[in-house]
Amino acid sequence: MCPHSIGKATSAFTKFREIVGKESCLIDKESLELYSRDQTEHLSFFPEIVLLPSSVEEVSAIMRYCYKEEIMVTPRGAGTGLAGGALPVEGGVVISFEKMNRILQIDEANLQVMVEPGVITEVLQNSVREKGLFYPPDPSSRGSCFIGGNIASNSGGPKAVKYGVVKDYVLNLEVVLSNGDVIWTGANVLKNSTGYNLTQLIVGSEGTLGLVTKIVLKLLPYPQHDLLMLVPFNSLENAGKAVSAIFRAGFIPSAMELVEIDALKIVSEFLGGSSVPITEGTQAHLLIEVDGNDTEVLTRDMEGIAGVLENFECGDIYFADDASQKEKLWKLRRRVAEAVKIAGFTLEEDTVVPRAQLPALIVGVKALGVKHGFEVVCYGHAGDGNLHIRIKFPGNENSLGNNHVKKVLSELFSLVGSLGGTISGEHGIGLIQKPFLPLVMNHEAIRLQYAIKQVFDPKGILNPGKIFDLDSNG
Ligand code: LAC
Ligand code: ZN
Repeated sequence: MCPHSIGKATSAFTKFREIVGKESCLIDKESLELYSRDQTEHLSFFPEIVLLPSSVEEVSAIMRYCYKEEIMVTPRGAGTGLAGGALPVEGGVVISFEKMNRILQIDEANLQVMVEPGVITEVLQNSVREKGLFYPPDPSSRGSCFIGGNIASNSGGPKAVKYGVVKDYVLNLEVVLSNGDVIWTGANVLKNSTGYNLTQLIVGSEGTLGLVTKIVLKLLPYPQHDLLMLVPFNSLENAGKAVSAIFRAGFIPSAMELVEIDALKIVSEFLGGSSVPITEGTQAHLLIEVDGNDTEVLTRDMEGIAGVLENFECGDIYFADDASQKEKLWKLRRRVAEAVKIAGFTLEEDTVVPRAQLPALIVGVKALGVKHGFEVVCYGHAGDGNLHIRIKFPGNENSLGNNHVKKVLSELFSLVGSLGGTISGEHGIGLIQKPFLPLVMNHEAIRLQYAIKQVFDPKGILNPGKIFDLDSNG
């Protein structure tokens, strides 16, 4: 903990209570413990105070005071992050946006929506869907994660393969700067060539540059139909090879997910048994969805995709017949991360490589597991080359500060780098991936990011200790 910060937030309790009110200023041990964790490994860092502001004015007043007093501030969404981005590693204040959860305006004429950061992603999706509109980014945690957190880490999810990630939908952001000033980063328009793109700089900046208090998102018309199939493979590598062949054959599925058999078995058991037929010898499944407005076109696409898959020795394809079967399959996929973590696969790496390198990544990961004696399960967004790698390292629940684990992960990320990939596709760098950034980004590029950070946050009070260390990269 940074010495000048210790105790300052606590002594500022009266001031904070004036700003947000007594009920929104938490210092009891139970609350502090609750906000000391997110979904990352088994890590816990206690804040001194948790603040729950209700408006941009309150956020601005908090920041004005913290800037003056040099109090560390860690912003937090719903705490579903997997890179430790919401952990208050230097104590200080946690600002949770849970009370800023209003959908302010659905602009049907312009296909846009304006929301506060504490809106749950699925609530946003359902609200715009009632108007025939579509907000595609759908992280597995969409039932609980906040749109503000999705912006902080530039989340993706299964639909990214056809529709893109969060950054592709953000048009404009209201941001409170570290000194309490409030800006809008852009305009509510579909094209914008007006100076540097501050909007996109904030997206994915993990709360290190400013605090997002309003968000304007682009929407699409809701596609009326979708078809879903589950395809078994006897070889994980073949499943990986089939992925790029499908795109080369001219198809763009709306989801193209990979789940390795051990992950599927773990999540099936976690959910109390599964209706998915698993044939002997199956190593992995691809879950493939197509969507659009014309069912005949979709059926033709599915048949075309099935034709491509046959070249990769797939087994019998299971087609989901109705909404309930589709929901069951999607539930299995969405709950994998939670299930495997509980099963002891605590370390989670969010690797991404160019799509055609996926088979090489899969083979390399398995070889590393054998070499270093760890169990590993893979799943994720195969269509994006975005493979989530879950590792069970007996006796090592955390990677932080563990030199042996760090060495193994360095080997993994060097492999990813050598395949032309990078160390996070959608979860961010946060705290736990910080040591590995230099493996995929050169010193000058990191220095430039550091310089940007200093412009936005000269006192280093915004989400300290995240993405890179300010003092070790100069
Ligand atoms: C998933 C989350 C963990 O794909 O990104 O399940
Ligand atoms: Zn994912």
